[in-house]
Amino acid sequence: MTRQEAPHATAIRRYDDGAVAEAARLILDGLPVAVPTETVYGLAADATNEAAVSRIFEAKGRPAFNPLIVHVGGVEQADALAELADAAKTIARLYWPGAVTMVVPRRAGGPIAPSATAGLGTVALRCPAHRAIQAVLAACGRPLAAPSANASGGISPTRAEHVLRSLGGRIPLILDDGPTEHGIESTIIGFDGDRITLLRPGPVDFAELAAVAQVSKGETPAGVQAPGQLPSHYAPSKPLRLNATTAAPDEWLIGFGPVKGDDSLSDKSNLGEAAARLFEALHRADASGRAAIAVAPVPEAGVGVAINDRLRRAAAPRFIR
Ligand code: TXA
Ligand code: MG
Repeated sequence: MTRQEAPHATAIRRYDDGAVAEAARLILDGLPVAVPTETVYGLAADATNEAAVSRIFEAKGRPAFNPLIVHVGGVEQADALAELADAAKTIARLYWPGAVTMVVPRRAGGPIAPSATAGLGTVALRCPAHRAIQAVLAACGRPLAAPSANASGGISPTRAEHVLRSLGGRIPLILDDGPTEHGIESTIIGFDGDRITLLRPGPVDFAELAAVAQVSKGETPAGVQAPGQLPSHYAPSKPLRLNATTAAPDEWLIGFGPVKGDDSLSDKSNLGEAAARLFEALHRADASGRAAIAVAPVPEAGVGVAINDRLRRAAAPRFIR
């Protein structure tokens, strides 16, 4: 970014009542604050305040056409912001709070700042299952727009230190509640009539969602529906090679199961553990002295689908950096 931003001394505070109160005060003053969720750390601001939302885009260097996820405390709050069809209500009842984001039509005349949804007629809603963001939502009493708390295009943060490295000096506060549970961003779904469509794979299996909602599985529509689907995203600063079983001398090898490396996503071939460790392993690889990164094969099953989705994007040629 060439524009001069107001500098912030970035404080890190451990989660407690005082830290939550300070986070809420800053957010109600119109500033963005990094807050952990069960997936990754988010950069949260008042979704009803246009100036506050614009500060998220500034701090991340995020293009204005890329809409944000709006976080809510529960289904009632979601219902006030958007038109929830029966399938959406069923999924919310069963999976919220949790790692499922639903793209649904905005309610006409609703309070969400237009820039939060990049002017779209839809809004992405999620009720997160984490004590820190739930406490901040309750203390603010309004919906919070929160993308992942990293500079645009970079690796999502699973620890407070990752946020500091990426956004230090650009935001006033990071609420630290340790490493996140899932370590990978939420599953995003959209609705097309009765059918649900997968916009971004994540911790919750799409097939399960489709079955639970008792709707037929839709085709993923052609074209970019969620800008997180841009080919290059979640990118480390070094070239990344997939399906590696051995490393070249200048490569940092991230192993999985039987493939041992400089690091391992999971020695025991456990996919949940691998998801939780993925972004942290990419951060470590980026910080290592090697020029390039290689990653062992990960099975395309369960949350392995989301892991491979993020890895393919991290390996893709960079058009937007
Ligand atoms: O787990 C998560 O989802 C984390 C935590 C903080 O909640 N958030 C997150 O936000 O990953 P972000 O901004 O990094 O990714 C949100 C994705 C983007 O790809 C965006 O384009 C898409 O959601 N999105 C948001 N609103 C949308 C809309 N109305 N229609 C289609 N896609 C939308
Ligand atoms: Mg992101």
